[in-house]
Amino acid sequence: MVAAIRTSDEYVPELSLVAEVDGTVVGHCMLGRKALLGVTAPPVLALGPLSVLPSWQRRGIGSQLVSTAQQVATHRGKEALIVLLGEPDYYPRFGFLPARDFGIQPDWPAAMVYPLVIDLTDYRGAEIPH
Ligand SMILES: CC(C)(COP(=O)(O)OP(=O)(O)OC[C@H]1O[C@@H](n2cnc3c(N)ncnc32)[C@H](O)[C@@H]1OP(=O)(O)O)[C@@H](O)C(=O)NCCC(=O)NCCS
Repeated sequence: MVAAIRTSDEYVPELSLVAEVDGTVVGHCMLGRKALLGVTAPPVLALGPLSVLPSWQRRGIGSQLVSTAQQVATHRGKEALIVLLGEPDYYPRFGFLPARDFGIQPDWPAAMVYPLVIDLTDYRGAEIPH
């Protein structure tokens, strides 16, 4: 997935993050720029993949990667929202909300949205590609 995103139009270098401990990469998080289906609204950011080496999990590295990505995305100010299809028990702690709350499909618990602006009306009826 990383290689495919890096060579595509979706690649946003400033949103390809690694976590490093003593010179070793122990985790990474990537947000790509992606068009949602069914709307003409501008592309959004899609979070994924996110991973932390098993021996380094549960030490806050995944949380640091996600919250740093949210800060960079907010500061960048070019997209209206971050979408993802992921673990519904993990992402709500970072403020991700069910996509259905914004009228965005698919209507799955895994489909989540982190708004970067107040008004997401332009994305109502959109679908996250899967
Ligand atoms: C998900 C992942 C990135 C979390 O990284 P991490 O560095 O362990 O995360 P943190 O230390 O910041 O947070 C750990 C918390 O996340 C929870 N968590 C980890 N994986 C989880 C999962 N799949 N579902 C729900 N909660 C999960 C842990 O229970 C822990 O909760 P606690 O703090 O209440 O005990 C890591 O477990 C991983 O790489 N998993 C394999 C790849 C993957 O599933 N990626 C996400 C795809 S949606």
